[in-house]
Parts: sequence; C-alpha cells; structure tokens
Amino acid sequence: ARPYLIAPSILSADFARLGEEVEKVLESGADVIHFDVMDNHYVPNLTFGSMICKALRDYGVEAPIDVHLMVSPVDSMIEQFLEAGASIITFHPEASHHVDRSLQLIKDGGAECGLVLNPATSLHHLDCVMDKVDQILLMSVNPGFGGQSFIDNTLDKIRQVRQRIITSGRDIRLEVDGGVKASNIRAIAEAGADMFVAGSAIFNQKDYKAAIDEMRAELAL
Ligand code: DX5
Ligand code: ZN
Repeated sequence: ARPYLIAPSILSADFARLGEEVEKVLESGADVIHFDVMDNHYVPNLTFGSMICKALRDYGVEAPIDVHLMVSPVDSMIEQFLEAGASIITFHPEASHHVDRSLQLIKDGGAECGLVLNPATSLHHLDCVMDKVDQILLMSVNPGFGGQSFIDNTLDKIRQVRQRIITSGRDIRLEVDGGVKASNIRAIAEAGADMFVAGSAIFNQKDYKAAIDEMRAELAL
C-alpha cells in the first residue's frame, strides 16, 4: 500500500493560538502541516506569510511544512519561505512567468517543489516538468477559502494525473486540496491521490484525533 499522508490546513485553525493548534494536530496524527498563503491578488483573500512559518519553526515545529502559494508573483515569496524553513513549496503555474525557473529556485533552496492546478486548469502545464516536480497538487475547489464542497470532476483529473505519474516512472506525490473529508477520502485515494489536505474537516471538529483516525480508517478499507 502507498503511504498516505494527511495534511491539515491551518487555514481553519484558531490563529490566536496557532502554535498550540499545530502541536495538537501533530499529536493527533497529522503527517504534514499544509500552509495556505493568500495575497488578495491571485486569490480574493489574505492569510499569512513566511514570518508565521518561521515563528512555527522557532516554536519547535519539526514536521514537514507544505507551503501552498496562492500569490502572484511567486519568486520573492519562494525565497522567503525557503529562509523560513518550508519543506515543500508549490505554486500555481498561471501565477509565475517562468515556471521552470520558479521550480528550480525551490529545488536549489533545498525544498521539494510542485505545481498546483485549479479545477479548470489544464494538465498540459505538467507536460514539460514531469522530470522536475516532487509533488502535484490538484485543487478540488477554487482556491481562496476553506469549507467549500469538493468538485466531483476532480476525480477524473486525479486518475489522469496518476497515469502520467506512472508513465513518468518517478515517485511524484499526488496531493488533493479542497472539500476533503472522511466521507470522500476513500474515493479520492482510489482515484490515485496519496496526500490529502483537510482544513475544516479537522479543525472544525472538537476532537482532531477522532477526525484524523476516521480518515485513516477509510483509507485502510
Ligand atoms: C483553499 C486552500 C485549502 C483549504 C482547504 O484555497 O488551498 O487548503 O484550506 O480547506 P477545506 O478542507 O476546508 O476545504
Ligand atoms: Zn491549500
């Protein structure tokens, strides 16, 4: 079986107690912390930048931090997040003028790199970078907000990307972000995903461990 990674999005955490929230979700069994960076330009919402990532590292968070950049332009933010201790950095190809350069910048900085494709963004963006990316993130909602519903045609896209990954012969992670919950995580995994972002489905619950355990139980079926 593929190792499945659960990546809670701190977008739905209590920002006033962010350090504790991250600690708590890691103790509850999270594998990776998903970090949603929004700039009110590429997406119509504003969250946090690299200082918060650095603050979590200084607080003692050692888990991988998966930075999802919803910003344009991307390169200056990439540099800042490399400095701040990001483990994985992904960005949207439409937000970068030079996609290969931005990917290389991430790799040269020692982090893992990847592209993010929105629900209506074509897979052709992957054509020339399959030898370079460590991860592909498929959005199953339109980016900008937590708590939206999963867009069903993403399942077919997941299958297509899994096929491309197999063809590439490389070990590329396939992450899905948006509306993921215990009731649909199994179908998403069966379509070919191996990394699951969940914001509201974890942080809006009282018991984070119960929420993550329920997802893992579905994945084990
Ligand atoms: C949306 C973000 C997602 C979001 C997921 O732009 O990229 O990571 O926080 O939230 P849920 O799991 O609530 O759909
Ligand atoms: Zn995200």
